Amino acid sequence: MPLRIAILTGGGDCPGLNAVIRAAAKTAILEHGAEIIGIEDGYEGLVEDRVRELDYLSVSGILNMGGTILGTSNRANPFAYPVKDAKGKVTFQDLSEQAVRTFKSLNADALIAIGGDGSLTIANELNKRGVPSVGVPKTIDNDLYGTDQTFGFDTAVTTATEAVDKLHTTAQAHHRVMVLEVMGRNAGWLALGAGVAGGGDIVLLPEIPYRLEAIRDYILGRKAKGKKFSLVIVAEGAHPEGGDVVVGRMVDDASEARRLGGIGNKLRNDIEQATGIETRATILGHLQRGGEPTPFDRILASRFGREAAKLAVAGKFGQMVGLRGAEIVPVPLADIAGKQRLVNLDNHLLLTARSVGTCFGDGV
Ligand code: F6P
Repeated sequence: MPLRIAILTGGGDCPGLNAVIRAAAKTAILEHGAEIIGIEDGYEGLVEDRVRELDYLSVSGILNMGGTILGTSNRANPFAYPVKDAKGKVTFQDLSEQAVRTFKSLNADALIAIGGDGSLTIANELNKRGVPSVGVPKTIDNDLYGTDQTFGFDTAVTTATEAVDKLHTTAQAHHRVMVLEVMGRNAGWLALGAGVAGGGDIVLLPEIPYRLEAIRDYILGRKAKGKKFSLVIVAEGAHPEGGDVVVGRMVDDASEARRLGGIGNKLRNDIEQATGIETRATILGHLQRGGEPTPFDRILASRFGREAAKLAVAGKFGQMVGLRGAEIVPVPLADIAGKQRLVNLDNHLLLTARSVGTCFGDGV
């Protein structure tokens, strides 16, 4: 009997998902004669039994495609699954047994789950319940434990940096302050990456609560030196000292309902009022998740996909593939489940930004 490997992509999409699917499937098919089953829309397909066979041709020609050929969902947690009653009221039910049943019905030997912290925490739980699982770390937020970098992050930083570059020219022309809000949830990796790569003047991270006075003094100080414009890159999870994050929306059919967003507009008003300088805000939003992966992400995703297939074939379950230095290594899912990797205050990129005079709103 050929080995059968199921693959799903869970959580918010990000560039490089198809590159992982392709590399994992091709490795398993070409080197191990395996059969591949694609699960549709992440864990939703596992609960609702929506699957399809993936042959060699269906995973060919997708290396540089954004999105995911399998679809994804950032609501479908089998352990807290949103179920609507006749009146549209949502309750969360534990449908994990249903997910396990679907998996068993596939006669599959392994599940490769490509996802962020939520999806990989679910993979860890399913692994304990008899779904032999291997994880692949994805997210534009780069906030996953156990890997130096997630795939998708490099593409998102590239998109955000292009936005900073474009805002730079118009800020300079109009002597304005330009605020760019980027994603990242509670982690500042995206803002820090785009801030350093784009030469942002002020970078605001969730990890460093800001003071408006520090931002005001910095902008006015630049003006006094002849720099009449300033660029602010703010992470969606940034917040003032003693203040709260700005919540963009609550998604009531998701077990993790809170979506951040809106700090950029708040800062625009606050900065304009505090400095008297005309200020505009841009919210980059889902542009950061779309489009073709960069070559770096295609390479990382391909390496992750190959190693995930190798772990699955070798029967090494309950593991995630992670980047450590230049190597791809197995990392126990149990060690990373439920954890978030944030920017440390002694992070080298952060220190580099400080060394070139970037303001983090904390007055240091
Ligand atoms: O985790 C990826 C991410 O893009 C975050 O940066 C952002 O906070 C969130 O997903 C947005 O989610 P949604 O697509 O549900 O708006």
